[in-house]
Amino acid sequence: MFFKRQKPMVGLDIGSSSIKVVQCESRAGEVHLQDYGTAELLPEAIVDGEIMDRQLVVETIQNLWESKGISAKSVSTAVSGRAVIVKKIQMERMAPEDAREAIQWEAEQHVPYDINDVSLDFQILEGNSDPKQMDVLLVAAKREHLVAHADLIRQAGLDPLIIDVDAFAVQNIMSMNYDLSPEDVLAMVNIGAEVTNINVVQNGMPLYTQDVSLGGASFVEALQKTFNISHAEALAAVKGEEQPNFDMQQVVETVAEDLAVAIERSGLYLKSAGETEEIDRVLITGGGTRVPGVVEFLNNRIEPSVEVADPLRRIHFDPVLFGDKRPEEISPSLTVGLGLALRKVDDR
Ligand SMILES: Nc1ncnc2c1ncn2[C@@H]1O[C@H](COP(=O)(O)OP(=O)(O)OP(=O)(O)O)[C@@H](O)[C@H]1O
Ligand SMILES: [Mg+2]
Repeated sequence: MFFKRQKPMVGLDIGSSSIKVVQCESRAGEVHLQDYGTAELLPEAIVDGEIMDRQLVVETIQNLWESKGISAKSVSTAVSGRAVIVKKIQMERMAPEDAREAIQWEAEQHVPYDINDVSLDFQILEGNSDPKQMDVLLVAAKREHLVAHADLIRQAGLDPLIIDVDAFAVQNIMSMNYDLSPEDVLAMVNIGAEVTNINVVQNGMPLYTQDVSLGGASFVEALQKTFNISHAEALAAVKGEEQPNFDMQQVVETVAEDLAVAIERSGLYLKSAGETEEIDRVLITGGGTRVPGVVEFLNNRIEPSVEVADPLRRIHFDPVLFGDKRPEEISPSLTVGLGLALRKVDDR
């Protein structure tokens, strides 16, 4: 067993601002980042998690594989956004073999799409002490969306072995990097470009999982509108590449306020559902944490204060991989990809 090498899994994160590929390897109980690659996409290529320009995305994936010299063809990937619904529900306790049909029926009440157009996955959760009730975690995704995602990956010559959900990939990497106290209610908030994944977790179980249509791109759009500037100018300001000749702070705070409200809402939902009292800890990740002023704003605005989580905290890597950049400049964007790369085939 000691010398058994685990076949490396490649994580492929098709984000709306960039595509990320992450390759890890476990050696002697340590996880090593072997390599990663990112490729920027045009803003129109993917909108709200939906792929608009398939050809461009396929070519971008193929170029990444080529430039990084990746030989592996099997990938683990994830979907996010409006097409994906995660919900914890309570239902009458029954034997697992009877549950499938009942859950299908139950799901109809919770999924806002025609149940026939939805691909449904579920997990019966331990922990409900009521002998008459059981908790079930439903994961529903529009079938059309899943099929399109898988087809695209195949079109790029790869095999989508695992199709996960962004929020769960984030949870996976956070659980590996942090000693999370089982009693603590943790909000994991991954601020991407167009989507922010919010996942409130206790004892490894998702209590509330929701994607909101907000992220780094929301700041860029707000700056564009407010100051009547081009997309490129707004982007350069957000990325700190150019010293802007306007005051960004007010605009950044307006968008960050929407993020704060979304996080608060998850806490309020759980309180009203009688699930939890308070959120104990907020861990934030994602490229959106790099937008100047966002972390500071959320820190002052949200109780408890937020922590920028390091997705590489327990992962070994050669700093050369990051060139002249500091790892923390890149790693927030790699969070989902890392979580996917660490999925084992027998994980689900
Ligand atoms: N150095 C930086 N400075 C400012 N903003 C940054 C920086 N790096 C990334 N961002 C912002 O982070 C966002 C990208 O984050 P991330 O890579 O997590 O998103 P994504 O996976 O492409 O998108 P999504 O998950 O929403 O589909 C962009 O909107 C970008 O503006
Ligand atoms: Mg993302």
